[in-house]
Amino acid sequence: MNILQINASARREGANSTRVANSVVDRLKAANPGAQVTLRDLAVTPHPVLDETALGALFTPVDQRTPEQAARVALDDALIAELQAHDTLVLGVPMYNFGVPVQLKSWIDAIARVGVTFRYTEKGPEGLLKGKKVYVALARGGLYRDTDKDAQVPYLKNVLGFLGMTDVSFIYAEGLAMGPAAAEKGFAQAHADLEAAFA
Ligand SMILES: Cc1cc2nc3c(=O)[nH]c(=O)nc-3n(C[C@H](O)[C@H](O)[C@H](O)COP(=O)(O)O)c2cc1C
Repeated sequence: MNILQINASARREGANSTRVANSVVDRLKAANPGAQVTLRDLAVTPHPVLDETALGALFTPVDQRTPEQAARVALDDALIAELQAHDTLVLGVPMYNFGVPVQLKSWIDAIARVGVTFRYTEKGPEGLLKGKKVYVALARGGLYRDTDKDAQVPYLKNVLGFLGMTDVSFIYAEGLAMGPAAAEKGFAQAHADLEAAFA
């Protein structure tokens, strides 16, 4: 087992999503002795946003790219190769203003590459990142699970599935800003979700 852990909190220290993602990885390692773990902390190495420069580089044929354009595409290539090389993905995902952190969005923008991680066929789009198991460790100040205010889970299910990653377990740590008792309950729920994912 090769585990890729992506921490998406803007915080390097004390992040609740990282705490839950770490517990997922610990649980995976306990069940799979010898599992290898690669850690990418997007607070430490943030990926550049998909701006006009990046789009220009991506849509310029390889042999016509400037050195700067080639370097920009190479940053995305590295993230794609890293993900392709792992069979298990663990995402630590805080809720920021109802969405995913910009750091995670930039990572997703990097790994979604037509012809490489998905392609269009006569029957529609086909994800090419198949056969991976994904765990998403969610951290939230409030309570949004299974409500229409939760835009994160539908979005992540959709984009991961589009890329071929359809086996996704969500681990919820919620209510973390609602006082110590609620926070404790939130982490207990995350623990229960984790055990259910392994059942
Ligand atoms: C900028 C910001 C925006 C936030 N927006 C939300 C939100 O929309 N809904 C929510 O439930 N919690 C929100 N929170 C609370 C976080 O989800 C919570 O603190 C969580 O633990 C953050 O993850 P982290 O500890 O891994 O950084 C927000 C926190 C910050 C700092």
